[in-house]
Amino acid sequence: MAVIFKVRGTRDLLPPETELWNRVEQTARSVFARYNFGEIRTPIFEDTQLFLRGVGEETDIVSKEMYTWEDRARAESERSQSLTLRPENTAGVVRAYIEHKLHESGMLQKLFYIGPQFRRERPQRGRYRQFWQIGAEVLGPAWSSADSPLRDAELLEMLATLLEELGLHGWRLELNSIGSATDRPVYLAALREALAPIKDRLSPDNRRRAETNPLRVLDSKAIEDQDLINTLPKIEDFLDRESSEHFRQVLAALDASGVPYTLNSRLVRGLDYYTRTTFEFTVPDGSGLGTQNALLGGGRYDGLSEILGGPKTTGIGFAIGEDRLILALQAQAERDNVVIERKLDAFIAPMGTAQNAGALALAKELRAAGLSIELGDGVFRLRKSFETADKLAHRMVIVGEDEISSGIFTVKYFAAGEQSKVARAELVNALRSSILSARS
Ligand code: HAM
Repeated sequence: MAVIFKVRGTRDLLPPETELWNRVEQTARSVFARYNFGEIRTPIFEDTQLFLRGVGEETDIVSKEMYTWEDRARAESERSQSLTLRPENTAGVVRAYIEHKLHESGMLQKLFYIGPQFRRERPQRGRYRQFWQIGAEVLGPAWSSADSPLRDAELLEMLATLLEELGLHGWRLELNSIGSATDRPVYLAALREALAPIKDRLSPDNRRRAETNPLRVLDSKAIEDQDLINTLPKIEDFLDRESSEHFRQVLAALDASGVPYTLNSRLVRGLDYYTRTTFEFTVPDGSGLGTQNALLGGGRYDGLSEILGGPKTTGIGFAIGEDRLILALQAQAERDNVVIERKLDAFIAPMGTAQNAGALALAKELRAAGLSIELGDGVFRLRKSFETADKLAHRMVIVGEDEISSGIFTVKYFAAGEQSKVARAELVNALRSSILSARS
């Protein structure tokens, strides 16, 4: 029979790598809790209209990358419907905010999510068709302070804290303000005017964007177009007083909390809902991401709720590409020559199948005390138990007939090459060992 393989652009995550995924997610949850974020889980598929209207029909995501299908009606009472696997989660969160009338409390809504997203992109290192995001959104009516520059700065400061707690070094925060819904048309007109005479000298991709979505020309990486792009008008010269002041206050709050950033007037981002502050955290070349160096991205989306038929709401959020974050952490560990390996506290080795039952009882007792234990089997020869135990655990406990009757066990400690006799009552303490051992 032919073997069936996973679909292109998808990944299987296996142990021990999933250990690192769990550590990242636990750290994120712990940081989010300290900043008073609550978890939201929205469906992984939604009405296609949500993304057409929310993310924007002209964006690459919507025009090229969505997994969309016509979901057939199963009964007379149902209707066929166009559904889409979510390519991102902000539109879904704002839909849920509207649907559950979260604005009515008048309170700031601080929500986080961890989950898969789907985009039909050309797969490469750091770019997958199913990938994970860890994201958060802060939104609410104006009187909840969701529009305050303090919210932007606090979110960015939280991200810096999270990356620090994960131990990632060398990240860079790039920051821009792309103005409000009223600044944008003025800038777009200037951009179109500047693009008109040079359009034909741009690469085909950018020539098309100059027509359909001129902002996207700005964040093009096409090397041959860079000199021309650098001559285009800059959005910072088109911000109205309120947007400039908003951005000034974001920067002042970041300075006060010591979060380093770099201004990048070409950072416009690939989704249509952004207003004012936009940002990306990147890692330098050679950080394990290949050309996909954007670790996370986000920004303000002050009109999104209204676009989706909801009440007037302002908001800001981000999404971390979890796959990319993991790749960067792994590459860093490799560079620093640190092997993060998780070893169990102990391996229990029954000497002969007659001791299996007693070994299980002992394993149950030790696990109940919080120790991580792997249980061997009496059919293993001593040598096999030894080798398996050395691979998996810090220590091995030998369970023979004498040990069970006397209650005194032989414990072998691999790292020190020591062996000792330990009474059953003392076993838990003797076996408790750090689970993370860093080796260089
Ligand atoms: P985004 O920039 O499209 O923004 O995605 C955020 C992050 O997801 C990227 O920086 C990248 O790390 C990761 N990512 C995107 N596509 C892929 C892929 N194909 N494979 C692996 N990782 C990928 C958003 O999605 C917005 N919803 C963020 C946001 C939240 N803005 C406001 N609130």
